[in-house]
Amino acid sequence: MSSQVVLITGALTGIGRATAFAYAHEKAQIVVSGRRREAGLALAAELRDLGVEAEFIQADVRHEDDVRALVDQTVARFERLDVAVNNAGTEGTGGPITGQTVENYTAIFDTNVLGVLLSLKHQLRVMLPRGHGNIVNVSSVAGSVGFPNASVYVASKHAVEGLTRSAALEAAKSGVRVNAIAPGPIVTDMLNRFTGGSEDGKTFMTSLVPTGRLGNVEEVAQAILFLASDKAPFITGQSLAIDGGMLAG
Ligand SMILES: NC(=O)c1ccc[n+]([C@@H]2O[C@H](COP(=O)([O-])OP(=O)(O)OC[C@H]3O[C@@H](n4cnc5c(N)ncnc54)[C@H](O)[C@@H]3O)[C@@H](O)[C@H]2O)c1
Repeated sequence: MSSQVVLITGALTGIGRATAFAYAHEKAQIVVSGRRREAGLALAAELRDLGVEAEFIQADVRHEDDVRALVDQTVARFERLDVAVNNAGTEGTGGPITGQTVENYTAIFDTNVLGVLLSLKHQLRVMLPRGHGNIVNVSSVAGSVGFPNASVYVASKHAVEGLTRSAALEAAKSGVRVNAIAPGPIVTDMLNRFTGGSEDGKTFMTSLVPTGRLGNVEEVAQAILFLASDKAPFITGQSLAIDGGMLAG
């Protein structure tokens, strides 16, 4: 895996950031992407301090021009794209369906669904002709089951599961694999926002996990590395839950 060229969207925090560091330990060549330029440049510098080649490319996954340029600039810089981790996501605003708005739907679906669609489109554009590559979409346990007061987020992650399966089938003969990971509650900024940062919220989320604890970002990153590695050559179109048993119940 030593010289893999890896692109991660939404890489500046949480799971994306941990995945970038996990790939740095594998000596990959890494493109970290996100919306905030200064934070992105700082992350790329931190990764280079570990002795790997790393670049920041600014991109908002809702905008096709950004996503097209992100992929093209990655290939221009590192000559190819071996692994793409489509991690950028937003939880939007929760609450009952009766209180949902078009604005919230658009905010969540533009990033979580359109963002993944555009990412797949442009990543496959460069991977399919080479007959090589791995894509891992970051879904959620909310991609397989419902959660009250999170309907739009749940629907968006169900869409990510559908995009993953369809892309995997389209790419299957080419040698490109497309999989998803489905984290349960993982300690990140997003989980804090989801729970309102309260202890009660954390206790509630923990109570949903059979193993009795929240997950951490490194555990998710390792699952991404596995799915995108040559240790998983016959796995495509799958969604791997990293959820302490949540979906088993
Ligand atoms: N933390 C959890 O419990 C959990 C559980 C299941 C799934 N997930 C998923 O994991 C992924 C990462 O989330 P996280 O928990 O690390 O939270 P996070 O908020 O730290 O990370 C999300 C990142 O995506 C970026 N982002 C959002 N919209 C973007 C856009 N339009 N373009 C580019 N970047 C954008 C954010 O700025 C942020 O850096 C998300 O897709 C999320 O839905 C998280």
